[in-house]
Amino acid sequence: MPARKPKVIVTRKLPDQVETRMRELFDTELNLTDAPMSREALASALQRAEVLAPTITDKLDAELIAGAGSQLKLIANFGAGVDHIDVKAATDRGVTVTNTPGVLTEDTADLTVALMMAVSRRLVEGANIVRSGGFTGWSPTWMMGRRISGKRLGIVGMGRIGQALARRGRAFGLQIHYHNRKPVSPRIAEELGATYWESLDQMMARMDIISVNCPHTPATYHLLSARRLKLMQPHAIIVNTARGEIIDEDALVELLAQGAIAGAGLDVFEHEPHINPKLLKLANAVLLPHMSSATIEGRIDMGEKVIVNIHTFMDGHKPPDRVIASML
Ligand code: 8YV
Repeated sequence: MPARKPKVIVTRKLPDQVETRMRELFDTELNLTDAPMSREALASALQRAEVLAPTITDKLDAELIAGAGSQLKLIANFGAGVDHIDVKAATDRGVTVTNTPGVLTEDTADLTVALMMAVSRRLVEGANIVRSGGFTGWSPTWMMGRRISGKRLGIVGMGRIGQALARRGRAFGLQIHYHNRKPVSPRIAEELGATYWESLDQMMARMDIISVNCPHTPATYHLLSARRLKLMQPHAIIVNTARGEIIDEDALVELLAQGAIAGAGLDVFEHEPHINPKLLKLANAVLLPHMSSATIEGRIDMGEKVIVNIHTFMDGHKPPDRVIASML
């Protein structure tokens, strides 16, 4: 056990169980109103906390981190993605950064499949028609979508979530293809029956469904550029449960509006929470409010990971989920 309770500041409201345990273990300052912290409030927290537990809504750039007090030792992020934190600036100042990988893998893969299905089978359109009283009777040629089984799924980023999606894709009868910095091990490739494309361009042009499952880093910003999106077949759809910045959203909107891409399922947006107004008008886009890891179980598991990371760090050990800047 740590000799004394470290000062931990949590930037957003977390599940009750997580908050209660954090109060038991640490000198924890909670955000009971859940209002996102202003830049000034974050600067103040960085001056007072030994450990900051932020979320994606807290942009911790180099300037803010430069203003942190010398008491700050750990940024224990509640979330897997750390693109809102300047990890290099933190580690250069001797501040460790941790995240919560693994525990949101299955939930995110589930929601990716849900979006694939929603777009291909027009679930939101159909549900809205029923609610608005538009269902006046069945017709053989009405509300036709596109079949999933037998199609080709191209996964951009074959990490934990990409692989969990591939397993689900197999169960739906999809052919699994992927683009990644390097191929997965032969054992995993065989288990998933997955075909590797070193060229993302080549893969984009051949798939029926593209799913974005890589982290957002400087190298993946607008990885799906206008040029690459234009390579997609007109009947193909695209799903993104990773980060909005990976797709050139303006280009995607134009191509969807023109019918050059058949549909999109987006849980994340380039300028969250702002959404391009043109996107809101497109019937072939299913839009969700960044909820892919939003299960009760997932959010408690994420909190548990934050606690374990803080506890082991304060105990003088290396926390299990350290983020290394050079690996991003
Ligand atoms: C989280 C996510 O809910 O973990 C991530 O990277 O994108 C989300 O599922 C959010 O980022 C929490 O900070």
